[in-house]
Parts: sequence; structure tokens; C-alpha cells
Amino acid sequence: KKSEAWSARFSEPVSDLVKRYTASVFFDKRLAPFDIQGSLAHAEMLAAQGIISAQDHADIQRGMAQIESEIAAGKFEWLLDLEDVHLNIEKRLTELVGDAGKRLHTGRSRNDQVATDIRLYMRAAIDDIVILLRDLRLALLDLAEKHADTILPGFTHMQVAQPVTFGHHMLAYVEMFNRDAERMADCRKRVNRLPLGAAALAGTTFPIDRERVARTLGFEDVCRNSLDAVSDRDFAIEFCAAAALVMTHVSRMSEELVIWMSPRVGFIDIADRFCTGSSIMPQKKNPDVPELARGKTGRVNGHLIALLTLMKGQPLAYNKDNQEDKEPLFDTVDTVTDTLRIFADMAGGITVKPDAMRKAALQGYATATDLADYLVKKGLPFRDAHEAVAHAVRHCETKGCDLSDLSLDEMQRFSPLIDADVAEVLTLEGSVAARDHIGGTAPSQVRAAIAYLRSRIA
Ligand code: ARG
Repeated sequence: KKSEAWSARFSEPVSDLVKRYTASVFFDKRLAPFDIQGSLAHAEMLAAQGIISAQDHADIQRGMAQIESEIAAGKFEWLLDLEDVHLNIEKRLTELVGDAGKRLHTGRSRNDQVATDIRLYMRAAIDDIVILLRDLRLALLDLAEKHADTILPGFTHMQVAQPVTFGHHMLAYVEMFNRDAERMADCRKRVNRLPLGAAALAGTTFPIDRERVARTLGFEDVCRNSLDAVSDRDFAIEFCAAAALVMTHVSRMSEELVIWMSPRVGFIDIADRFCTGSSIMPQKKNPDVPELARGKTGRVNGHLIALLTLMKGQPLAYNKDNQEDKEPLFDTVDTVTDTLRIFADMAGGITVKPDAMRKAALQGYATATDLADYLVKKGLPFRDAHEAVAHAVRHCETKGCDLSDLSLDEMQRFSPLIDADVAEVLTLEGSVAARDHIGGTAPSQVRAAIAYLRSRIA
């Protein structure tokens, strides 16, 4: 007697290589808790509808409880011969409880079963990720609050642009992670629908109650078309797209952390537990965690493309291609989850060096725009003010000094509108404090934004 659940129709067994090639148990066994949860909901409905007996239902429950504890104890034997997680569990159930186990698959197919399992798995993964995004944002808010007044140069084109506060800079990332949390929550709505009941593709001849199963499993609705139910993986693609954006944000931040920690810049230090040394250069302390996060972003982006490509040529309904959805999806979940967990922890391990930031902000004429704005407030049209200040900057460049080093006399050569009150305008503190509106870099605005974000996140 052959071991495969479907082998009765076949005249020869598959080769070992084909068996290994087609099997998924070694990666899809992670769906086991969700597979059992789905099977229990299905069995409960079958019994309620009189499709199986109450005794069968009780036997299935007993068998599944046993299987759950075997898996938890690491004693469950996963067999390649049984192809996937579904057939492994069903086979063991039948060993444990006999015919009731064989009746479980009534009105169901592995096609709607696996689609249900993935959705349950992803719903849990999204809920974890949403919590981790919250932890990370709270950690960044703490860091922002500590440095609401700390000034560093803001850059465009990697050239010194205008002074900003470090708190404000951190809040830019909080905004990104806010959007990520929103995207995850939105994606969850489309994950949270029940495919079960679609059976192989056309529905089933048994009098099933899909809404009951949806309720039991906490799904918001049932998938409305059986062909779509078994073949749709949009929700997995959406999730990977949202995850790729999470990683993109982490990666941009990582890039900054790496630059900031370079001795040439020296804006921050990262706690030793997130860095590693060199096997040859004794002096080295490398920001490995942000570098790796930046690198791992590539694999998550790759998984998104893999899933899009997986789907683009598939005719309705289920095709075995879909088995290839799991590894990219699982790796995306693992990568994003680990990365967010580490970053939430690492945010507290960032030491900011205000003196180095301040020194850098004093180079590169970061307050030139403030001087132009000052002249505009004295009545000069902005384009003329821009030109006057540009001349002043060129003068400073030849002299090798900052705008604030010029005497009032010297300044007035560039515009007679300049007065003694210009001094405050040219300071870093004056510059940031003056950008005092919603979304501006003024310390008071940063504090207000932190309070607002905290109340939103809580
Ligand atoms: N292991 C399969 C998957 O991951 C389960 C569904 C298989 N269905 C089938 N008819 N071969 O998609």
C-alpha cells in the first residue's frame, strides 16, 4: 500500500527527487498551529450541520489536542513522504482516532485549507509587527524628546542646508513608521477573510455553513467567490509591499546611523552590543546591525518581486505554483520582525554627541536662508535678498569665516537693511526656534509633535 493520500490513482510511485521537489513539509510545518485551528473550526461546523457525528467531532478534538502537544514537545514526526503539513497532520490524526480522522476532509480541499492557514498565520504576524512598530516609535519618541533642543545640520544633496533639531529628525522616522502601521492595519482587512468552503475550486455539495466557520476563526467575512478564494494571494503581495516599505524606512535610517557613526562625522555612538569588531584591525567598532538591516532590505524587496512574478501567469484556479508563496512570505515575516525588535532596542542604545553636531551645523552657512528671510522682513523682495546673501557667503568663503563672524560694517556692504538685530537671526538656536509652526523644527513644535504622537500611538 502506498503512503500518499492520493496515490490510489497512480501506477508507479514518484522518484525520490520528485518527492523532495514537490514536498513542502520542511517549511510549511510552521503553519501547523493554524492548520489545526482551521481543522477544528471546520470539524465543529461539520458536526453542527450533521455532516459528521458528534462522536467524530469529539474524536477529532481529542486527536488534535494530542497532536498539538506532540508538536509542542518536538515529538511529532514530520514525514517527507506525506508531502505537506496538511497531510502529515491528517495522517497522524487518523492513526490516533481512526475513521473520524478520515472524515475531517469532508467538504474541504487542501486548496482552501492552505489558503486559510496562510491567512491565519499572516493575521498573527501582522498583529506582532504592529506591536513592534509601536515599540520602535515609542523608543524613537524617547530619543526625540531627549534631544528636542539638540541642533545638527540638516542636509539636502548631502550638503549642509539648514539647522534642524535632532528630535525633529527622529520624528521624520516616526512619521514613516506611523504610515507603516497604518498600511499593515489596512492589509489586515483583506487578509482577514475566510477561503474555507471553496473546497478545491467550485465549492462543495455538502450543506456547509461558511459564516459559522468565519465567526469561529475570527474572520470578518468569507471570500465571496470559490475560484478566487483558492487562488488569490493578493493579500500576501500587499503584505510584502508593506513590509518592503518598513524595511526601506529602516534602511534609510540605517544609512544615516552608519554615516553618523563614522569617525569623520562622529554625531553618534551606538552601544557595543549592536556592533562588532574586526578580526584583523584591533581598533575597529563597526555598526553591523544597521548595515545588515540595510542589506536585508534587499531580500525583502526580492520577496515582493518573487510573489508578484509567482502570480502573474497563473490561470484560475489553484496551481501548485502557489506552494512557492510560503518561503518568501515566511522570510519576510522573520526579517521584518527581527529587524524591528532589534531597532526598538537599539534606539535606546544610541548616544548623541551634541557638540559634534553643533560644530558641523556651524560650518556650511546653514543660517544663510535665515539672513535672506531677515532681509525680506525688512522689505527686500526674496530674489534680491537671496542674491545679497549669496554675495556675503562668497565673501565669507574667501575669508574663511562664518556669516556670524562678519562685523556689522562688513555685513552692511551686502545690504544696508542689515542691523544689529541680525545677530540673533544668524545663531543656530535662533534659526530653529524661528521655524515655529506645525511640522517645523522649532524645539517647542518638536515637543508638541511628540505629545501628539504619543497620544495617537497609545
Ligand atoms: N502544499 C500545498 C501548498 O502549499 C497545499 C495545497 C496542495 N493542493 C494540491 N492540490 N496539491 O499550496
